[in-house]
Amino acid sequence: MKTARMLVVVPVALMVMVWLGHGESPTPKLRADVDGLALTPPMGWYPWNEFGQEPQNETLIKETAEALIRSGMKDAGYVYIGPDEGICFSRDASGKLISNLARYPSGLRGLGDHLHARGLKYALYTDAGSRTCSKAMPGTKGHEFEDMKAFAEWRADYVKVDWCNTEGQNPEQAYTRLRDAQLAAGRPIVFSLCSWGDGQPWKWAAAVGHLWRTTADICGPGKASWAMAMQNTAANEKLYVAAGPGHWNDPDMLITGMSGLGEAQNRSFFSLWCMMASPLIAGNDLRSMTESTITILTNREAIGINQDPLGIQGRIVRRDGAAEVWAGKRLFDGSQAVLVFNPASAPATVEVTPDDVGFEESAPLYVRDLWKHETSGPRAGNVRVTVAPGDVALLRVSKADSFPLPPIIVADSYRAVYRARANAPQELTQAITVRNNGSGALPLWKVHAGLPSWLLVTVSQSGNTQTFSTKVSTAGLAKGRYHAVVRADNREPLSGLPMSALYYDVDLEVE
Ligand code: GLA
Repeated sequence: MKTARMLVVVPVALMVMVWLGHGESPTPKLRADVDGLALTPPMGWYPWNEFGQEPQNETLIKETAEALIRSGMKDAGYVYIGPDEGICFSRDASGKLISNLARYPSGLRGLGDHLHARGLKYALYTDAGSRTCSKAMPGTKGHEFEDMKAFAEWRADYVKVDWCNTEGQNPEQAYTRLRDAQLAAGRPIVFSLCSWGDGQPWKWAAAVGHLWRTTADICGPGKASWAMAMQNTAANEKLYVAAGPGHWNDPDMLITGMSGLGEAQNRSFFSLWCMMASPLIAGNDLRSMTESTITILTNREAIGINQDPLGIQGRIVRRDGAAEVWAGKRLFDGSQAVLVFNPASAPATVEVTPDDVGFEESAPLYVRDLWKHETSGPRAGNVRVTVAPGDVALLRVSKADSFPLPPIIVADSYRAVYRARANAPQELTQAITVRNNGSGALPLWKVHAGLPSWLLVTVSQSGNTQTFSTKVSTAGLAKGRYHAVVRADNREPLSGLPMSALYYDVDLEVE
């Protein structure tokens, strides 16, 4: 019994070492310095905006995962998916969280395994207070460490922590305790703080999590509201200095593709979120999207602005009547992103000046229209655009006639699973393939040292695809279950900046 317990404990201890690195402080200046996660804004899907609580269950999540893959969203970078406040778990008499098997028959761990096998990352939800908002689920208050351990056991990669039923709690203290609980649980996890701006998280939360809500909810379930979207945009725009790689302002999930918005509004909304380096967490029903919604959500040139490695949040640099000129967003190749947004009910013609964009008057410039997918130039002087009511022009301006896309990382799976017999030592290898859908090939991913002795990972490259050859050797291993998390790091070659760390699970059962 003693030996069996040791076998489980040793790999987990190793895992903690691998991702924390050696000698790093457990109270970092930037949370992302610890885990290398979310160095560009997280992309994914959560059910709340469209569905609210009741329809959430395992079938909805699995069907949505398939729709996300089928629609091309996965190939465009959307990866985090899972239930929001969806009556996922309860607390048993001993204080332990248990899956709601009536709604999630595979259990919350089973659902995570399913998503990992589809090359997706697993998102879950909880609350910092005593109960979640509808009170249908327990909150983490007083149970932070055991709950974050349960989330790690369920193999969550992302957790959104709400702020309902928190009377008397201090946001900074409560969320910092949850950060400590996540670090203690030892699984790398993207931490999404959801206090709706309470406690001004943009002042302190970069050390705690990777993104924080800056505003109230953008809509009630199923009801997109353009007015609320505009309110959230205005509040979030002002906070641009707080954003950067690994620490993002979050003006809430997307409403693109929900009923109530027209095509121009969908395009404008998405462009604003790209320009603000906001998390791109889709909130619509992916199973029944129109072609127009798919085209907007999967526009890789717009997504490239959002996923730029420099991680700058754009802002309004000038108003021209009702029209807004958004800029201040230098990109990794030296080009600049520009958005002209026309919220008025009549067309607007705006002259974008080289000064708006940060170039000299006389420099010949190329202009790429990221919705029309057309390049014009070279030319000197102003760029004149006419924008239809409620619509945008999303541009990229460059001295060069090339507009490379930043990396978009897509894996065929985030889990390698092995079964072996204890009395017959074996070496088993599985391949995890990781593709870059951005421009150009990446350097080879570097696997972190410190993996357990039964596991060897080597990486090879062919064009835009790298293969993680994941070999387990069972010689000398006793019966039991073994688990490790592989971490690999890379740098975006043009900027030299670190890319979000890549993690996947390895499970070995020796029978
Ligand atoms: C809060 C959050 C929403 C959603 C609901 C669930 O309102 O801001 O995004 O998670 O709770 O009840």
